Amino acid sequence: YRRLRVALLGAGAVGSQVAALLRQHADELADRAGARLELAGIAVRDVDAKRDVDLPRELFTTDAESLIVGSDIVIELMGGIEPARAYLLHAINSGADIVTANKALLATHGPEIFDAADQVGAEVYYEAAAAGAIPIIRPLRDSLAGDRVQRIMGIVNGTTNYILDRMDTEGAEFSDVLADAQRLGYAEADPTADVEGYDAAQKAAILASLAFHTTVPLEAVHREGITSIDKSMMDAARHAGYVIKLLAVCERLVEASGESISVRVYPALVDRKHPLASVHGANNAVFVQAEAAGNLMFYGAGAGGVQTASAVLGDVVSAARRHIAGGVGVGESTLANLPIVPIGRV
Ligand code: HSE
Repeated sequence: YRRLRVALLGAGAVGSQVAALLRQHADELADRAGARLELAGIAVRDVDAKRDVDLPRELFTTDAESLIVGSDIVIELMGGIEPARAYLLHAINSGADIVTANKALLATHGPEIFDAADQVGAEVYYEAAAAGAIPIIRPLRDSLAGDRVQRIMGIVNGTTNYILDRMDTEGAEFSDVLADAQRLGYAEADPTADVEGYDAAQKAAILASLAFHTTVPLEAVHREGITSIDKSMMDAARHAGYVIKLLAVCERLVEASGESISVRVYPALVDRKHPLASVHGANNAVFVQAEAAGNLMFYGAGAGGVQTASAVLGDVVSAARRHIAGGVGVGESTLANLPIVPIGRV
């Protein structure tokens, strides 16, 4: 097999699992990808930091810039805007295809990254940027490209679902359960991103952009978190036949004046008979209503290192196959430029 040089940026909960799986399943991945995926190195801030899995020390470097040069595929799992943005642009301009799980970056600088890739014929893969292990990016971008998505209702943050679920089923207190979610590796480095709905809003912007073939800026997403939800509210909801879930709702609104889009994240009362009500723990689910397909539900692990690593590796295999085929970009759909409804109107 031809050898492809793979650079990994970041060795946190997801990154360390990606590195381990790349090494563990090297032969099988080579057969699937049609190329040997050689992990050239892992760029981190601190070479000696404690990792979730044991990896050879010589793989680690603090010099991301040098690692990127000459790589065929660059996997970015550092999170945050900078330096991730600069490294990805550097990778694209060095001729690499990129794989990223960076929802914050894509929700805020997506067009810049996609345009840079288009200019040089590179591809950007980001299946792991929304809903962890669940395949939802490709279904929205490719499988449903011939349909018209009307609405997405998603539980897209594992940490808040884990917290709300334990408050609902055990009567647990918010702060105790948050500490558990952090210990289990579900929460973001700063859990404010989870509990205040920022993480879900970023994912909603990404999903809505794909579903409605447009660019939904993060500022256009209405956002409320779950910090004001307490035990008494959970109890009241339960007695009335509902459960409180943090939902991301992306909708196409059709009115006499034309079509528009509304994207919002908020703690919602979900009827206990609705499939979204039975999403427990750190799982996620994305319920998609499309004109021709009808109702679709995507369900699975929304957070967790090894689970999310599955989505990253799928992207790496896709990138390798494209590289081997000498392919050009698959091309994004034409932007529909639908207007986005101002916050508060829906
Ligand atoms: N902190 C995120 C969550 C991780 O809880 O869903 C996956 O993006």
